[in-house]
Amino acid sequence: MDKQLRFAVVGLGNMGSAHALAIQGGQVPGGVLVAVCDTAPSRRQWARENLPDVSIFDNFDAMLEADLAEAIIIATPHYFHPPMAIAAFARGLHVLTEKPGGVQVSAVRAMCDAAEKSGKTFGVMFNQRTHPLFAHAREILRGGELGALKRVQWTVTNWYRTQAYYNSGGWRATWAGEGGGVLINQAPHQLDLLQWICGMPKSVWAHCAVGKYHLIEVEDDATIFAEYDNGATATFITTTGEYPGTNRLEIAGDRGKLVLEENKLRWWKLPTSERDFCFDGEVPTAEYVEIGQTEAETAHNGILCNFTNAVLHGEELLAPGCEAIHELTISNAAYLSAWTGERVTLPLDEARFDAILAKKIAASSYHPEQVTAEADGVYKDRWNVKW
Ligand SMILES: NC(=O)c1ccc[n+]([C@@H]2O[C@H](COP(=O)([O-])OP(=O)(O)OC[C@H]3O[C@@H](n4cnc5c(N)ncnc54)[C@H](O)[C@@H]3O)[C@@H](O)[C@H]2O)c1
Repeated sequence: MDKQLRFAVVGLGNMGSAHALAIQGGQVPGGVLVAVCDTAPSRRQWARENLPDVSIFDNFDAMLEADLAEAIIIATPHYFHPPMAIAAFARGLHVLTEKPGGVQVSAVRAMCDAAEKSGKTFGVMFNQRTHPLFAHAREILRGGELGALKRVQWTVTNWYRTQAYYNSGGWRATWAGEGGGVLINQAPHQLDLLQWICGMPKSVWAHCAVGKYHLIEVEDDATIFAEYDNGATATFITTTGEYPGTNRLEIAGDRGKLVLEENKLRWWKLPTSERDFCFDGEVPTAEYVEIGQTEAETAHNGILCNFTNAVLHGEELLAPGCEAIHELTISNAAYLSAWTGERVTLPLDEARFDAILAKKIAASSYHPEQVTAEADGVYKDRWNVKW
């Protein structure tokens, strides 16, 4: 018989229910769903109706105690990701966590330490890494074909959300329940791709507008300015308050330019470095190449399959869990910069970030201990974002 991996899923909301159905529906070869857990009775009722023959728990520790699964998918609100992962590693389980890795770099660091100590497979659901054009842009950059990075600019304003979305779950868009707004919930995908393609910056400055378009206590509009070791700069603009939005990535190097928009990668190649002809040469014509999307983005199921194959057959992870720390470092630094008005140099002062966040949590309108699980609602079309 082919090897199988027994999965459990914790958090059966919007995303966890999709992962559970994908495994249960046979879309993850080798994966078998054996257990699920949610604190909300309505979600457990959903599981009874939709996941026959799967054990259902109302308590995460009880599910671990039952020892049914070999791997766990964590799809609860972000703050829970590190403590749940650490508890699962302690029991010898493989872990695939939803993005973001957590809310604080310090917590994600502890999660990575636990993963390394356990020796188990650890993945993170950065599903947009499966988009072939991002992978292609990365190859071009990493292979040196664009030369030295000069400037990157990403406008990702097609994360539009209505007020109804923010009202759909008590934890959303609060410091105590979610730990931020667009930078912690929607933008992690692109912040991860930014660092995956271009590497980590050395400093971050940011402006975050709190509740600019919605009745929320966190930011729904952010502009980040970052600088790299070689002097290259990045501008990253995101919001949930513009409609229709834009998703355009532009990367300039000294050997040309890339533009990724509308499922098309456009590439202008220079025969030599711009630095070679700037002062004493003829300005050459750039060769233009247009690369369309020929393969599908395998998205969430692509990551589920890759994680399963990593455990069962040693396949290389496309999104190793510990890499979640990188995009979170950028967003923690952006918050710290917005809170203090300072340019934040990396490595991040994690204690300072945690201390200011603690004050925001204390003043938050969300009080987890007073909220019943049933207060969290459901909604659909959550990640309906197009290039
Ligand atoms: N990769 C993606 O494209 C993507 C898309 C959506 C959401 N997400 C991530 O998935 C996570 C969940 O988001 P969502 O939109 O599904 O939220 P949701 O509110 O729809 O679902 C969360 C579920 O977790 C349950 N829960 C909360 N605390 C729990 C606990 N202690 N034990 C067990 N269950 C608990 C809630 O009852 C709820 O059913 C977030 O971290 C989010 O960033 C990722």
